[in-house]
Amino acid sequence: MNEHITRAQPKRLRAPALGLNHPKIPASHYTSQERFELERERIFRRAWLAIARIEEVAEPGDYILSDLPTLSAKIIVVRGDDGIVRGFHNSCLHRGLALVREPAGNTSIFRCPYHAWTYGRDGALKALPAACEFPTVELGRDGLPPVHTAVWNGFIFVNLAKQPAQTLDEFLGLVGERFAEAPFSDYPHALQFVHDLDTNWKHIANAFTEGYHLGFLHKKTLPFVFVPENPLTDYHGVEIMGIHSANTVERNPNWRPSAPVMQFVAAAAMLSGSDAPTAPSIVDHPSMNLDRIPYVMEEVINIFPNMQLQVLGNGYLWYTYWPIGPDKMRWEIRMYLAAKPTSYREEFIAEHLIVASRDVMTEDSSMSVLQHEGLSSGGLEDITLGENEYLLRHFAQSLDEWIQRE
Ligand code: FES
Ligand SMILES: [Fe+2]
Repeated sequence: MNEHITRAQPKRLRAPALGLNHPKIPASHYTSQERFELERERIFRRAWLAIARIEEVAEPGDYILSDLPTLSAKIIVVRGDDGIVRGFHNSCLHRGLALVREPAGNTSIFRCPYHAWTYGRDGALKALPAACEFPTVELGRDGLPPVHTAVWNGFIFVNLAKQPAQTLDEFLGLVGERFAEAPFSDYPHALQFVHDLDTNWKHIANAFTEGYHLGFLHKKTLPFVFVPENPLTDYHGVEIMGIHSANTVERNPNWRPSAPVMQFVAAAAMLSGSDAPTAPSIVDHPSMNLDRIPYVMEEVINIFPNMQLQVLGNGYLWYTYWPIGPDKMRWEIRMYLAAKPTSYREEFIAEHLIVASRDVMTEDSSMSVLQHEGLSSGGLEDITLGENEYLLRHFAQSLDEWIQRE
C-alpha cells in the first residue's frame, strides 16, 4: 500500500550556517590518555550530570547508589523527611568506608558496618560510639560529604565541583526552559541495561547525533525511518541551545510491516501521529517537533556532556555515556514506558522493544568499537566531519570550550 502523502522537506541545515566551519578533529582526541584526563577533570568534574529519575526516590528514606565511573565516584541519592533530595559521596566520615552497598532501598538511617557511625536521611551524623574520643566531631553539624544536587523536570543531576560555576538552571539554559514541561513523569516504568565497551565514549555519543548512517548501517533494523524524499535522514527542527541541542527525526508513514502483529507493535509502542492508537503522545507535546512535521519518529534532546533523550511516541529512551579511559566507556540505556505491562500483548510489545533496540544498539556499538580500532592504528592525524554532521562539530567545539576554560 503506497498512499500519497505530502510531507515537509528537510530544511537541509548545514554546518557553515551555524558557524561550524572546521571539519577536522584530531584523532588523538579519541585515543590519548591526556585528552581523557582533560575531559574528566575539566568537563565531567565541572558539569551537571544527570544520574537518576525522581521516581526512584519517591518516598522519604528511599535511596539509590549511583555509579559515576568517569570520576570513580559512587553517590548516595536520598530523599529526606523534609522531602528534599540530597546527594552524598558514599564515604563514611570516620575512616572513609563506602558504607552503602545496596544499589537501592529505603532506610531510616545509614550505619557504617565498621565502627557504627550512624547518619540520618539528611546525611547528618546522628550517633557514634565513644563520641568523647572524637572531640573535633560534632553531631548534627558533621555528616556524609555532600554533593551538589538539583532536579530538573524529574531528572536528578549532581555536580562534583567543590563550588559549581553555574546553578543547574543556568547550566541547562534554553534547553531546560524549552522542555521544562515535557511530561517525562507520565512514563515512570523503567527498563535498564548497561554496556561496557572498548571504545572512546565520544564515538557512541556521535553515533546518535547524525542521521547520515541510518540508511546504510540500520537499513534492516530501522525500516520506518527511511523516507524516500530524505534518503540521508536529514534532521528537522534542529535547535542549538548553547552547549545543548535538539532535533526531530521523521519517519515514513507508508512503511507497513508485513506481519499484522508487527503493525500493532510499531503503532502501539514506538510511533506517533494519526496512526498511533494511544493519545496524547509525549512527542506531540508542544515543546517537541519545532517544524511541526506530520510524522515523527523521535525528538532527540542532547544535554551536554553525556545525556541524550530520545522521545518516542509512547515513551522515551535515556542514554548516558561515561568515559572510563581513552579506550573504555560505559553506556547506560534506560527505556521508559507509561506502565508496567499488564497483559501478554503489552508484555510482547515491551519485549519486542528491548530486542529491536538491542539490535540497533549493537550495530552502533560495533561501529564505535571498530572506529576505535581504526584510529588506534595511528595512521590518521585527524577525522573529517561533514557539513551534514553539524551536531558532531558542535559537540566537539563545546568539549574544547570547556577544556580550554580555566
Ligand atoms: S569507617 Fe565508618 S565508622 Fe569507621
Ligand atoms: Fe545508529
